[in-house]
Amino acid sequence: MAKFSNYIVVGSGLAGLTFAIKMAEKFPERSITIITKSEASESNTRYAQGGIAAVMDELIDNLQSHIDDTLICGAGLSKEDIVKLVVNNGPAAVFELIEWGARFDKSANGLLDLGLEGGHSCNRVVHYKDHTGLEIAKTVLRKAKAISNIEILDFHFATDLIIEKSTCVGIELIDQKNQSLFPIYSDAVVLASGGIGQLYGHTTNPKVATGDGIAMAFRANAVIKDMEFIQFHPTAFFKENTSETFLISEALRGFGAFLRTEDGNRFMKNYDPRGELASRDIISRSIIKELSKRGENCVYLDCNHLNQVELLKHFPTINAYCLEQNIDLKCEWIPVLPAQHYLCGGIEVSKNGETSIENLFAAGECSYTGLHGANRLASNSLLEAVVYANQIFKFLSKKDISKHKFHGSSNSMDKFCRNADFLGFENILPDLQKLMRTKVGIVRDDRSLHFAKAKIAEWQQQLYINPSCSVGYFEVKNMLDVSALIVRDSLSRTENKGGFYKEELVCLDF
Ligand code: SIN
Repeated sequence: MAKFSNYIVVGSGLAGLTFAIKMAEKFPERSITIITKSEASESNTRYAQGGIAAVMDELIDNLQSHIDDTLICGAGLSKEDIVKLVVNNGPAAVFELIEWGARFDKSANGLLDLGLEGGHSCNRVVHYKDHTGLEIAKTVLRKAKAISNIEILDFHFATDLIIEKSTCVGIELIDQKNQSLFPIYSDAVVLASGGIGQLYGHTTNPKVATGDGIAMAFRANAVIKDMEFIQFHPTAFFKENTSETFLISEALRGFGAFLRTEDGNRFMKNYDPRGELASRDIISRSIIKELSKRGENCVYLDCNHLNQVELLKHFPTINAYCLEQNIDLKCEWIPVLPAQHYLCGGIEVSKNGETSIENLFAAGECSYTGLHGANRLASNSLLEAVVYANQIFKFLSKKDISKHKFHGSSNSMDKFCRNADFLGFENILPDLQKLMRTKVGIVRDDRSLHFAKAKIAEWQQQLYINPSCSVGYFEVKNMLDVSALIVRDSLSRTENKGGFYKEELVCLDF
């Protein structure tokens, strides 16, 4: 059975829910359907620890300084007009979240307690303890659920966009509870499907981060840009023999934690005068260099010298996790290693969030706006998500909605339900993750990239000849498509910039 909704939003993180809330409140007669492949509460937003960067105290900060910090971190590849747009809209975006019920930490004087993170020239990170993302995600989800013209379809998986005459008219999806496939038609589709961490396995992202929106947009011929700029977070908790990890927020280094090698050496000053607060690309590469020089598996974060009362007040989640791992922050160090964290590239969008396909929009981590350039400044991602959700809302508010309710009658059931039992994709996933870590990681080279390209093409062919209708199959297919894009853009970039680093700048012809 085909359905119609004025707006389809793919993803239930901050970008998607913010757009849905604004649209639904302004136009109670219009329908908004949110498609989310897991529980609606599961998204990358939920796992953001640090916070949301915005200029909230003009006595210590100003908009130009936030703009400059963003441009410096982007290593010359950020678009200045977009940086200005996002930064200038930051304070209003934070006030709106507060109005919607989000709690943020305050200092004794009643003003927002602003944290410091790498690359920021002053304290400007609005946060709620060390689980800001969770606080914001809960706030927007609670609000969205209370609005009657928003329908949330959880455990529904979007498989592909429906394109007619070069225009996006809806999506095809799997209802995972009823095992059925059906299309939803709409006036506009907003992709807000988050990141790609599962391509690497070792990631701070949740299991749902499989690049689905980017892969769908790519298959529909949307322009996908700057996929080589993967941000690796320097400090993910290190556990032996598992790729499972947990983010140890940069805010902890902003609070004064030191990075040390096993023998206690504070090595970061040897690489950058900013030490522990250098940008993430520099710290991640420095850690890799130290480890390969010393033949060790991880470095350590030392909090022993910090005020323990304040530390536990600001970082209760990190403390609880460390205690579970039998690490006492008072007298022991946290073992850490870089892990995939964020994708700076994605589906190219205009300042209104329009992709290169008519009626298809994108916001949040799956999009490329031009804000992050070659490297994202800490805590600018939640900011970009809310600002762009608002840009799309403002743009679509001015457009009429369709009078007719159905554009087509396609039902893709037959196309995908052959070969439901093919399970080869389950074996491909760990191999793909290993390939991405070892050949398309923090330091790349053309020979490894060509190897990865050939391997990915081989796996894509295996899936192509064995189509299936399971969500696992589609996720692996999406991860392969997105991996191929990362390799494509890594091969074509010849200059090291920000988060992109190749060791040999020679293109090998295989
Ligand atoms: C962190 O808390 O270290 C992550 C915040 C971010 O990615 O901006």
